[in-house]
Amino acid sequence: PATQPFLGIESSCDETAAALLDGNGRILAEAVFSQTESHARFGGVVPEIAARAHLGRLPPLVRGVLREAGVEPRDLAGVAATAGPGLIGGLVVGATFAKGLALGAGIPFLGINHLEAHALTARLPGLFPEPPAFPYLLLLLSGGHCQCVAVHGLGRYERLGTTLDDAVGEAFDKSAKLMGLPWPGGPHLERLAAEGDARAVSLPRPMLGREGCDFSFSGLKTAVAQAVSRGHRHADIAAAFQASVAAVLADRARRAHSMLPGATALVVAGGVAANRAVRAALEAATPLRLLAPPVRLCTDNAVMVAWAGLERFRAGQRDAVALAPRPRWPM
Ligand code: KG4
Ligand code: ZN
Repeated sequence: PATQPFLGIESSCDETAAALLDGNGRILAEAVFSQTESHARFGGVVPEIAARAHLGRLPPLVRGVLREAGVEPRDLAGVAATAGPGLIGGLVVGATFAKGLALGAGIPFLGINHLEAHALTARLPGLFPEPPAFPYLLLLLSGGHCQCVAVHGLGRYERLGTTLDDAVGEAFDKSAKLMGLPWPGGPHLERLAAEGDARAVSLPRPMLGREGCDFSFSGLKTAVAQAVSRGHRHADIAAAFQASVAAVLADRARRAHSMLPGATALVVAGGVAANRAVRAALEAATPLRLLAPPVRLCTDNAVMVAWAGLERFRAGQRDAVALAPRPRWPM
C-alpha cells in the first residue's frame, strides 16, 4: 500500500545519512553524521577515511531512524541508496548495505543518482507551499558539483552547463585557504566578507556575458592568490570574491532562463546555496520563483535519496541487486 514507509541511504562523499519517508513523502525520521572533523586536518575529503567512517556509522544510523519511527525492515515499501556519482568506497558501503537489507527483508532496491536526488528535492511534499512543476531549472552549487540543469520530468534531465575547472564550493574553499581560513572555508569566507569592502579589490568575473551556462572559477582563485600576495586586507578580498561569484552565478541563471523560457522556478541546491549573497543575487537575477530548500536538505542528506527513490518506485521502477555503483555517472 501507498502508506508503507520508504528508506533512503546516502554515503557518496563525507556525509553518512539515513532517512525514512512515509508513502506520501512526509519525513518520518532523518539522521546525518558529518565526517568533516575527520577530514579537516587534511584540508579535504580523504576517500579511505570516508569509506571506513561510512562502514562504522551507517548501520547504527539506519537502526536509529527505523527505531525512531517504529518501523521494521519488513514494513518498508523499498530501500534506495546513492549509487553514484561519488567516492567508490562510500558508494559500495551504502549500496551494499541497502542491497543486503532489501534481500533480507524481501523488498525492492533502487540505486539512485546523487545529482538526480538533489534535482528532485524541491518536489518533496510539504517543503514549499507549491512544489515546482516541470520543467524547472536547477543550479547545483556544491563542493564537488557545479551544474545548471533543466529538469523536464522524472528521469528527464538536460545539462545546460557545467564548470570548466573548479566547482564553486571548491573555489570558496581554495580561496578561503589562501586567506588562512580553516576547511571547509565557504562559511568562514562568508563571515569574513561581511567585514570587508568589495570595491577595495578588483577581481575578475569569469564567464560573465558568455553564451551558454558553463562556469569557470580557477581564474578567480588565481586572482585571489595575487591579491593576497599584494597584501590586500583579507576581508576586502573575501568580499570581492563573494561579489564576483554572486555576479557570475546571477549571470548564468539569466542565461539558463533564456535557454528554458518555460521554466516554472529556479531551484538551488548544494552547500553554496547557504550563502546569503549568492541567494540574494539569484533572487534578483530572474523573475522566476527562487526555491532554496533549508540548508540541511541543500547539502548531502538521505531525505533527498529516499524521495528520489520513492518517486521512481511510484513510477514502477526497480533496480537489480547486481547494479554496480558508478563513481562517474552523469545525470
Ligand atoms: O553540498 P555540500 O555540503 O557538499 C558537497 O560538496 O557535496 O557543499 C559543501 C561546499 C563546501 O565547498 C563549502 O565550503 C560550501 O559548500 N559552503 C559555502 C557556505 N556553506 C557551505 N560556501 C559559501 N558560503 C557558505 N555559507
Ligand atoms: Zn551533493
